[in-house]
Amino acid sequence: MNQILDLLIFLIPIYIANSSPVVLGGGAPLDLDNTLPDGERILGNGKTVRGFVAGTLAGTFAGGLVSLVYLLPFFPSPLIQFTAAFFLSFGTMTGDALGSFMKRRMHVGSGRPFVLDTIMFLIVALVFVVPFASAALYQPLNLLFFLILTLILHPLTNYLANKAGLKSVPW
Ligand code: CTP
Ligand code: MG
Repeated sequence: MNQILDLLIFLIPIYIANSSPVVLGGGAPLDLDNTLPDGERILGNGKTVRGFVAGTLAGTFAGGLVSLVYLLPFFPSPLIQFTAAFFLSFGTMTGDALGSFMKRRMHVGSGRPFVLDTIMFLIVALVFVVPFASAALYQPLNLLFFLILTLILHPLTNYLANKAGLKSVPW
């Protein structure tokens, strides 16, 4: 396993991208209100264009700031690390939307808790950054660390966001 600090810093764009739409999202839904033949929305009202764009930008910005001051061992240069921050953030938002797509196909309502909420964004973000990151990132112990941390942090931050009045439900 790599240094825990490096792994935590690596996760910054992912977590910023994933959490900022709760505050910055709203407006037109990504699926433009469209429904599939199964009777369910493509993605639902929980995935908005503004949330998707804001999450991608916020995560990229956070990762950009990090790349100015700290070069992670997984990237050869600050510029590539910055580029990776974009793909991590974009991947996070894509994975989040993909999770909603799968939830709707299984008739799980928007805003209902589901296991995919916790891991889909992480998986897609890690896949999107494959072209930029060294193989060292994908060591099994690192992946296990990401998984366990996310399984703890995601419910915890959702609970706190609910207590702080940012989310109507504690998940
Ligand atoms: N959000 C958004 N746009 C996105 C992602 C999230 O506007 N692309 C906002 C929405 O207000 C959403 C909130 O962030 O309700 C919480 O996001 P999330 O828990 O991912 O969505 P859910 O409402 O739970 O919907 P789903 O069941 O589809 O995951
Ligand atoms: Mg949710």
